[in-house]
Parts: sequence; C-alpha cells; structure tokens
Amino acid sequence: MTQIIQIQNVADYVGQTVLIQGWLYARTGKGRLLFLQIRDGSGVIQGVMFKPNLSEAIFEAGKRLTQESAIIVTGVVKADERASGIPAGYELEVTDLQIVQLAAEYPITPKAHGVDFLMENRHLWIRSRKQWAILRVRARVMRAIRAWLDDHGYLEMSTPIFTPAAGEGTTTLFEVDYFGDSVYLAQTGQLYNEANIYSFGRVYCFGPTFRAEKSKTRRHMTEFWMVEPETAYQDLDGLMEMEEQFVSYIVAQCLEHCRAELEILERDLALLEKITPPFPRISYDEAVEKLVEIRAESTDPELNSLLALEWGSDFGSPHETELTKLYDKPLFVYGYPTVCKAFYMEPWPGRPEVCKSVDLLAPEGYGEIIGGSERISDPDLIKQKIEHDNLPPEAFKWYMELRQFGSVPHSGFGLGVERTVAWICGIPHIRETNPFPRTLGRVYP
Ligand code: 4AD
Ligand code: MG
Repeated sequence: MTQIIQIQNVADYVGQTVLIQGWLYARTGKGRLLFLQIRDGSGVIQGVMFKPNLSEAIFEAGKRLTQESAIIVTGVVKADERASGIPAGYELEVTDLQIVQLAAEYPITPKAHGVDFLMENRHLWIRSRKQWAILRVRARVMRAIRAWLDDHGYLEMSTPIFTPAAGEGTTTLFEVDYFGDSVYLAQTGQLYNEANIYSFGRVYCFGPTFRAEKSKTRRHMTEFWMVEPETAYQDLDGLMEMEEQFVSYIVAQCLEHCRAELEILERDLALLEKITPPFPRISYDEAVEKLVEIRAESTDPELNSLLALEWGSDFGSPHETELTKLYDKPLFVYGYPTVCKAFYMEPWPGRPEVCKSVDLLAPEGYGEIIGGSERISDPDLIKQKIEHDNLPPEAFKWYMELRQFGSVPHSGFGLGVERTVAWICGIPHIRETNPFPRTLGRVYP
C-alpha cells in the first residue's frame, strides 16, 4: 500500500512513491507534459505528468481535469530547488491519477472578482490561496493564544453565551427570546471570569462574542472571537507586562510557523520581527496632547476634522491610526476617561474622572486589538457604579456579591482575534480573517 501523505510533510518522502488526496488548483501543459497544481489543504505541490511514462488513459485523464476537480495522485517525490510549491522545493513525478469528481465550471477563476461576489461565494473563496493563507495564520494565532495561557498557569473556562445582562454597554446587545424572557448574546465573558478567578486564580475564556454594532467599518463584525484572560492579584502594570509578552509570543509563533503563508500575503516580515517587549506606554492625557500636535502640523483639512477631540471622548479609528504611526511597536494607551469606558473599571487613585484602563493599539494604523483594565474590587464602589449606570441590580446581584467574599485587586483584557489576524497578515479588512464573517450587511453563506 502506498503511503498517504500530507503535502506539508513532503520533505520526509523524497525519493519515495506517495499518494496525495486533494484537488486540482490549476493546470498547464505543453506537448507531452502536463503540470498539475495539486492542493490537499496542507500545502500545494506541482505534479508533473510526462506522457511517455504514463498509460494513454491516465494522460488523457490529466488533460480532462477541470479546476477544483477532486483527485488522488500517486507519484514519486523529487527535491527540486526551483519548485515553487508550499512548501517550496518539491515536485511530484506522477505515476497514477484517479479522478474522484470532475468539478463543474468553477465560478472563481484567476481573473479579478469584486468583493461582493467573493463574499457571496465565501464557501468557495476560502479555497483561494490568499484566503487559505489568512485562515492558516488565524488558526496559528488561536493555537498560540491557548499555548501561552496554558503554559502560564491559566485555566480555560467556558463562559455562557446566553446572558441576562449587558457586559459592555447597553447599545450593542443582541436580544434573544428565552422561553418568553429576554436574554442577550454574550458581549464578553469577563464578568463570569471575575467569578472564576476566585476558584482558579488565573483563567481565560475564548469564544465567539456578539455585538450589534451598527458600524460598517473595516474593524467591526457582529460576531467575532475574543480571548479574555482574567488574573487575581494583578494590577494595571502587571496587566501591561502580561499583554506585551502574550502578543509578542503570538507574533513570534506566526513568524516561526507561517512563513509561507505570510509570504503569499506579501507581508513585510521585518515589521513583525520588531514586535518584542517592552511596548511603549502613554497615558490618555499624553495621547490627547500628541493628537493636538498632529492636528497643528497637519495641512489636510479632512484629517483635521477627523482628529477633532474633546477630553473625555473615546478615540475613533483616525485617532488610533495617527497615534500608532508614531511607533513601530504596539502602543499602550492607559488611563482613559471614566465616562468613555465600562462600569467595572477601577478609578485612578485621586482622579475619579480617569480609570485604570488600557487599550493596546496595533501599529501600521490597525488600532485597538486589546481592551483591558483593573477591575473595581470594593463592594460599595461597584454598587454605586451599577446604580449610576442604571444597570438592573437584580441581574448584577451575583457580580456584586463577588466583592464580599475575599475580594482582591484583579485585572484582565480581551484580545480580538480578527483584528489581530488582520494586523499580522497586513490585510486592510477584518472580514477576510474569519471563515464565515458576520457583519452588518451579511449573514450568508
Ligand atoms: O474593548 P472591548 O470591548 O473589551 C471587552 O469586551 C472587555 N470585557 C475585555 C476584558 O477586559 N475581558 O473588546 C476587546 C477587543 C477589542 O480590543 C477588539 O479587538 C475586539 O475585542 N472587538 C471587536 N472585534 C471585531 N468586531 C467588533 N465589533 C469588536 N468589538 C471588540
Ligand atoms: Mg475597547
């Protein structure tokens, strides 16, 4: 029996006859030669069919192949420096070919298609080389997230998707009918992790997160994946140290394991290689000063109006973009005004109008990839904040109770997978970072 292999492991089989189960990506040929671009999900290899070495029937089968036909190919693995597959440097000298299904005319051809057409055909588009590369990076990012946390004493906790109350503001809730009652799809698992730390110390949740964002931007989805670590006895400084280690590890793992993918995406690897701790830290107040300077120096009236800002308002993407242009590493902005952040954030000592929050802004204009903070641990203060924000006290009863039984300073953050992947891949829009993205205008396919 011929060994069935994955193309990604082809280096181990040079000189051997192997069997590859895959699909035809493209075909070219001249005279007695046919070149098949064979992909099996793990990689791409060129199969060479040379007529004199094959039966008439097999060579004819090769000529009939249409794009995306399912094929089982037998052949001898050859090392060849010039071969441009993934991994590069190997070719398959085809000895046998079996057609599993001859594909119908494939709608996505090498010619350029509009993005609406491609999104409508997302179930097929994910096979294209660039989409394949992005989603492979995504899988690596998710694996690195778990690996780092698991190796640093964090326990993965599942937090509920049906939730009785808002975790991150009341304007972006998806309401669901729960046997006659209203519940909401989770905007965050954080509040539950604040309970979990009192049992496990360090925890994280990692899953889909839902926000009824009415914003049609390059950075917003209605369903996205977020990892949320929460740590007992951790203050704001400890939080920033953790975040810079965590993010640097994720980037390093992509550089180590996803070179071919990043090359397909024509990513400038030198920029990613700079992502090492420590990351620069500036306060919100300093960020506002910098934005005032940037405005003063800018001669672009449109940019000037986009950058207009009152102390107390949250940054929009133009502000984040300009700030991150000043650095070649991700930038921490800490100490945001209390009014523009969530109810649970610890006040800054002596400055109640500021909170112990920190956002991490990715370079090259990618903007916020992490939001986090130290949490309020005082029972009276959390009660006041919930009342002040008009949140339903019954729904938060359990959350307030956490502050009565061994309450400690604690902090955590949420990292958005799609935004992180868009940055690492260097692509403009986050919709391509999720296999089947959910956005304001799209829930199909
Ligand atoms: O800043 P956010 O809203 O923070 C929280 O939800 C906290 N409860 C996290 C925590 O402290 N445990 O969201 C965190 C991150 C953002 O920085 C961004 O990367 C991502 O989640 N995010 C979105 N990604 C895509 N589409 C959206 N609509 C997003 N909203 C937030
Ligand atoms: Mg945020």
